[in-house]
Amino acid sequence: MSLGNSIVQRALITYHDLSMATKAALAISIALVLYRFLFRHESTRRKELPAWGPIEMGLVMYLLDGAHNSMVYRIYSTIRRYGGSFYGISSANQTLIGYEDVDRLFSSQMNHALSIEWHGYGLFLRFFGFPDTPALRKKVESTFKPWHSPIERVFNNDAGATAAFERGNLPKMVSEFVSFSQEKEKMKRWELRADTKVIKQGEAVEANFSALIMDFGACFTIPPIFGHDLLDRNPHLLEDIWKFDHVVPLLFINMPKWVPFKVMKEGLKARKRLLDGVEAFSRRVTQFQRGEKVDDAAEMSDVSDVVLERNTALKRNEWSYKERAASELLVLFASNTNTQPVLFWLVLYIYSTSGLVDTLRKEVAPFVTLSNSHNKKEITAIDTSGMSRECQLLKSIILETLRLAFGAVSTRFVKRPITVQDGNHTHQLHPGTFLSVAHSFSQRDPSLYPDPDKFVPDRFLETDPSSGKLVAKYGKLRPWGAGASMCRGRLFAEKELMAIGAALVMLWDISPAGGCEWRLPEMVGGPGPVKPKEDVRVVIQRRVFVSSE
Ligand code: HEM
Repeated sequence: MSLGNSIVQRALITYHDLSMATKAALAISIALVLYRFLFRHESTRRKELPAWGPIEMGLVMYLLDGAHNSMVYRIYSTIRRYGGSFYGISSANQTLIGYEDVDRLFSSQMNHALSIEWHGYGLFLRFFGFPDTPALRKKVESTFKPWHSPIERVFNNDAGATAAFERGNLPKMVSEFVSFSQEKEKMKRWELRADTKVIKQGEAVEANFSALIMDFGACFTIPPIFGHDLLDRNPHLLEDIWKFDHVVPLLFINMPKWVPFKVMKEGLKARKRLLDGVEAFSRRVTQFQRGEKVDDAAEMSDVSDVVLERNTALKRNEWSYKERAASELLVLFASNTNTQPVLFWLVLYIYSTSGLVDTLRKEVAPFVTLSNSHNKKEITAIDTSGMSRECQLLKSIILETLRLAFGAVSTRFVKRPITVQDGNHTHQLHPGTFLSVAHSFSQRDPSLYPDPDKFVPDRFLETDPSSGKLVAKYGKLRPWGAGASMCRGRLFAEKELMAIGAALVMLWDISPAGGCEWRLPEMVGGPGPVKPKEDVRVVIQRRVFVSSE
């Protein structure tokens, strides 16, 4: 363990032993010091989400979760800028909690007053360390539309998302989920980080479940967008995505790069490798589009229209290859870092909940076609549209997983002055400031979700008054954010979660290693996807079909 990590660990232990009031007073003091340190220069130098913002959101959520009559809560309430659902000390950034009309506010005002453009620009500066220049700012502004519209068109539209899904060839991937081999050359790409061990030749293999599932999901997601070249040519790509993902929250709050934390050092090295890999990929895409000789004679014909169209827009707006690499790395990130951890929890909940695998097998069987072979069945087709129409229990399970394992945040930049009615309060928001909504705040509220920490598979099922059938409904859950700029890949993500969950269940039996009971790992983190504190060791075997199945 590095010096930095051990200091942090000792500080956390000391913090843990303090009384509740001291903890909260300390949290406010640290937050105020950080506020001065991190936020000092930003409002004047550039309009980007204050580094202070996410820290303040964490503090507000912590305070609201505690006693509302506590001294610390009352002090905070006195010093916050507005009132009602608006929690934020400065006018530069406000966290909204419990505001009922988020969808309407973010939708109707979107094109006029509230925008995500500047938030996107901020990512370039924070995540990738680009200098803040008028030229880059102009490029981001002028590329904003052609950047998002191809993603929206393909991944948020049923026909586009279905076509992208088909390109992923999930039936073959699930049929070959584990190779039953420990030789690297024979193993599948997604098995390489999972520390697999064959425990019965051709029959049972032990593996680290989170590493296996997250890499499996990424190997399915990346080729339909980037083609096979990016993944095949960069052996460290998957590991680097997860390493960089670990450091992103620190970069987001402007943590200095020199802090002696292993996670920072490794994350920055991973970022460099990722940027180099995507930059070289962007050059090959450009050569392919121009009909020139492609570096390394790479095959680029399966690169999706999304990447081609974005590359054309980037070229037209004179983005350098370094800048293009950062832009496209954001797509690699957006399409994987949320989906794959959620996929892990989904599959873990399905297998660890008594009786659920059998129930789901019955529900999804009509939509997953299996080969006739008796011993080693394979999947030959998956009907995602039928599944999405009929498999309401599976849908409810996905919503319940998102409730427990994902905390969405929507952040918007105030472009023009806007007046917001909030119950009895009227707030005037000024241009150049930010609004963030922590959608996850009520996801464990017992008045909305009884027994809130428990995974309840059918929690989101409701009887439809017209058909009398059970249907899965979101209710107040907002995993995709809000308004016009909510997640641009949600239809694809829904299909992916449903189909991978259903296909795995149809072909594989998974149980805890060592013959013991399932023990779910502690959840760490959020907002965004929560991560398991440690991996879960499992045994994977082919499902044994009885003759009637
Ligand atoms: C379980 C899976 C996923 C979840 C829970 C999720 C959630 C979210 C959320 C909460 C946002 C912010 C929305 C807001 O500001 O209101 C977002 C943005 C976005 N998502 Fe997703 N997402 C997922 C998967 C995907 C996939 C598969 C793709 C692409 C194929 C994708 C592409 C995007 C993009 C491009 C943005 C906009 C980023 C920006 O402009 O700042 N997402 N997502």
